[in-house]
Order: sequence, then structure tokens, then C-alpha cells
Amino acid sequence: MATIILAVSRTTCPVYLFLFLMVVVLLPSPSLSADSDPLQDFCVADLNGKPSLNGFPCKPASEVSSDDFFFSGFTQEGDTNNRFGVNVTGGNVLAFPALNTLGLSMNRVDFAPGGINPPHSHPRATEAGVVIKGKLLVGFVTTANVFYSKVLTEGEMFVIPRGLMHFQINVGDGKALAFTTFNSQLPGAVIFSSTLFATRPTIPNQVLTKAFQVDDDIINTLKSKLS
Ligand SMILES: *[C@@H]1O[C@H](CO)[C@@H](O)[C@H](O)[C@H]1NC(C)=O
Repeated sequence: MATIILAVSRTTCPVYLFLFLMVVVLLPSPSLSADSDPLQDFCVADLNGKPSLNGFPCKPASEVSSDDFFFSGFTQEGDTNNRFGVNVTGGNVLAFPALNTLGLSMNRVDFAPGGINPPHSHPRATEAGVVIKGKLLVGFVTTANVFYSKVLTEGEMFVIPRGLMHFQINVGDGKALAFTTFNSQLPGAVIFSSTLFATRPTIPNQVLTKAFQVDDDIINTLKSKLS
């Protein structure tokens, strides 16, 4: 591009300058060739509503202070006394509004011994994470059903490509702690067990028995355990 600009600046002919500008305008540009990525699961249009944003409107700059750019939500250990033995503390735009439009967010993930962050995916982000304490088995599955996994200890990092199903399970003797980061201010999480067996309203057994090739009893058990 620099050499083209140099070449054009050397010509005094306005026709070449006009043609050059036309080429630049028509070249594929990432910012002009597609919609921006969605920041929520859906956005049903209100055709009579006021113009809205993909995300949130901005607080007036005159009301912004230092406190807006700092977040203390990760200082406390999450309570892991639940069925999965995990607690995910979200540091996304909903908890930390300064992330709006900046395209990133973080989570703190605490694990009880044996605790699992169950198989899930993030529809809007790739995830990277670092194990701060303990020992985690981290795994993900590609769209070709290839399973990649490794046991990680303190200071080790992982990456989960956008949208792929993954999990972390504490395979150490004590508690574990990881911090994760996402290239979305609101990555979203599809937790597959809930997505299939704990919906409102419930997905018909006819769908689930056929999909999993099992009887109603098994589906009913899964629905009652997960709801
Ligand atoms: C996670 O930990 C917080 C803080 O202790 C607690 O308020 C919240 O209920 C916990 N969430 C789950 C799912 O256990």
C-alpha cells in the first residue's frame, strides 16, 4: 500500500488519482464486508423501536471514573459446594461494564477436589486459560470428533478454539484454580447436559431417545437429575 501511495503521489494526473481512490474504496475491507459478530444469543428486531446497538450504549465520558476500569470480582474464592464441584466467577461485560466494545473478558474458575466444569462451548469466543493452582485435565473435541486433552499443573496454559466442546476436571488431590480469558466481552456458554436435559420447556423424549438411542427411562433419569 505504501508503494502505491508513493506512486500516486508522484503523478500529477487527477484521472489516475481518481482511479486509485476507486480501487481503494472497492477493495475488500474487513470492516465493510460483514456484520459485526453478535454479542448476545439473539436480538429480535423491534421494527418500530429506536436504533439500538450490538452490545450496550456507552456511559457518558463525564461520568466515567477510575473505578470503572478496575474489577474486584476475582478476589474471593467461589463456593464449589454444588453438584459439579465448580464455581465460575464471570468477569464479562455484565459484571465489568468497562469491557463493553473491547472484545475480551475473563473468568475465575474454582474447583473442589474432583470438581468438573462440565462439557460446554462458548459460541462467541476462543478461550485461553492458565492453571494457577492444582492439577486439571483439560480436553476439547473438534467438529471431526477428535479429542485433544492434557493434564496441566500450575503455570501451564491451554487454548480452546472458538465454539468447540470442552471441559476441565480437577484430577489433583486438593482444590484447583484457573483463570480463563475470551476474545468476546460476552462469550456465552452452552452447557451440553443442561442444553439437552434441563430446558424450559423440556425437549420431547421422542427427540432424545432417538438421538441417544436409549429408552425413556434413561432420558427421564437424566432430566430429573439435571433439572
Ligand atoms: C459461586 O460462588 C459464589 C460466591 O461464594 C456464590 O454466591 C454462588 O452461589 C456460587 N455459585 C454456584 C453455582 O455454586
